[in-house]
Amino acid sequence: MIELKTPEEIEKMRKSGKILSLALSLLRENARPGITTLELDRMAEEFIRSKGGIPACKGYEGFPATMCISINDEVVHGIPGNRKLEEGDVVSFDSCVLLDGWYSDSAITVIVGKEKSEIDRKLVEVTEKALYKGIEKAVIGNRLGDISAAVQKFVEGNGFSVVREYTGHGIGKHLHEDPSVPNYGKEGSGVLLKEGMTIAIEPMVCAGDYKLYTASDGWTARTLDHSNAAHFEHTIAITRNGPDILTK
Ligand code: MF3
Ligand code: CO
Repeated sequence: MIELKTPEEIEKMRKSGKILSLALSLLRENARPGITTLELDRMAEEFIRSKGGIPACKGYEGFPATMCISINDEVVHGIPGNRKLEEGDVVSFDSCVLLDGWYSDSAITVIVGKEKSEIDRKLVEVTEKALYKGIEKAVIGNRLGDISAAVQKFVEGNGFSVVREYTGHGIGKHLHEDPSVPNYGKEGSGVLLKEGMTIAIEPMVCAGDYKLYTASDGWTARTLDHSNAAHFEHTIAITRNGPDILTK
């Protein structure tokens, strides 16, 4: 069942989303060669707690950290640890915040220092743009498949592939609510978008094939062909005035 939110509830989600967005900016600034992923994770956790938020990924289905940090061929759900970032790494940061009972969920991907290849730079750029192509379609009267198709078309049109095994999702009082928001699909299909729906749109894009496997830590999703991947995510509300990004 899709839970519609009132404007007041959406404002609460925006407060949660603001904290998350600032935490992601902090990590973007600090993603330098030599820093460990655990140091970045602690930085984000401290920041979120200092603003009164709860780092909601921590403990979610047993996930051990505040941030999912996924490097190069890791797509999502990488676990922070003693690995040091290196020049040219493609690093995604994905996290969720709970504030006053309301969740927000957002992700960014950055390249550490100078990119190793033109493809990496394009991968990050296309994935971020794909997110905005999806967001543009999040308007009352469209269907869910219009979002999915816009993301898929843009990504594939640029020679990359979209992940099938993980999707975006409804969000609000729970981190994962209905509907599921795939990054592939058909225009004009799926549920009708209504005022008050809040969803996380999150294209996960691979430079090569989209098939994944889960690493031995039980969490980290990696590309089977070891091509690099990128991930961007915003929590948005569908409103009378169009899509409203709550995690900026
Ligand atoms: N954006 C991720 C998702 O929607 C957040 C996962 S939190 C984790 O699945 F704890 F499960 F990693
Ligand atoms: Co999400």
